[in-house]
Amino acid sequence: MERQHTDPADFYTGIVAESYAPLKTFSYDPEIYAAFVREAGGPALELGCGDGDPLLALRRDGLDVEGVDSSADMLERCRRRADAAGVSVTVHHQRMEALSLPRRFRAVFLAGPTFNLLPDDAAAAAALHGIRRHLTDGGSALIPLHVPSPTPAGKVGRVRTAVADDGAEMRFSIVSEERDETARTQTAVLRYERHGAGEPTVVERPWLLHWYPRPVFEELAAAAGLATVSVTDADGRAAADDATDMVFRLRAA
Ligand SMILES: C[S@@+](CC[C@H](N)C(=O)[O-])C[C@H]1O[C@@H](n2cnc3c(N)ncnc32)[C@H](O)[C@@H]1O
Repeated sequence: MERQHTDPADFYTGIVAESYAPLKTFSYDPEIYAAFVREAGGPALELGCGDGDPLLALRRDGLDVEGVDSSADMLERCRRRADAAGVSVTVHHQRMEALSLPRRFRAVFLAGPTFNLLPDDAAAAAALHGIRRHLTDGGSALIPLHVPSPTPAGKVGRVRTAVADDGAEMRFSIVSEERDETARTQTAVLRYERHGAGEPTVVERPWLLHWYPRPVFEELAAAAGLATVSVTDADGRAAADDATDMVFRLRAA
């Protein structure tokens, strides 16, 4: 068994990228993001596009959207899915906290709380400055955020299985979890296993989530030149101050 201490931006590589689609249980409705892009206007950019949800659905709808992801393995899967679906897609292998693209966008979004994968406020600030630099003046950003709950004890050690493309059995479990209320981080050690032809592969990696009280995020966004236009819950209603899921709509000042 290998214990890997990957950088948070490299978590979704190797066996994790291979397991991602087979183990996925939930996808965000692409229409939420398509509606945002139609309203804000194109071109648009999805940060953390991974293997292509919802990016490919938006491309299929004819929307002018590009993707960014820090994992070359996830982007390779995205390109293969696009080819298989006959959809053209432009994706960039970059970290959202070090964004440097030749084009500016009228809309930048993340699908689901991928922004929580940035490990601390400094990385969040760098990502927000990058978003601002890549937005046209008056452009819009959509950033969903989540406050994670501790994993119930009964779920730690429980194994989920799925079948990989080549028929191998993929196994996934949470080994342990630590929460730091001061740093606002929750780090789980996740175990991924592959049992196919040949020797099994077993890898454990830390998976970090970093969260924000609403005023802290609003201040980080404002310091980057992004004014908060609205904060809504998953159903599009104004979010309560202590909501655990919030969708921030920001405007480039
Ligand atoms: C939970 S997956 C979501 C992928 C896809 N949007 C979906 O909904 O299926 C998060 C993605 O964000 C990417 N990611 C994580 N940290 C990143 C960073 N700092 N910069 C850019 N992408 C990042 C990961 O590589 C991964 O593909």
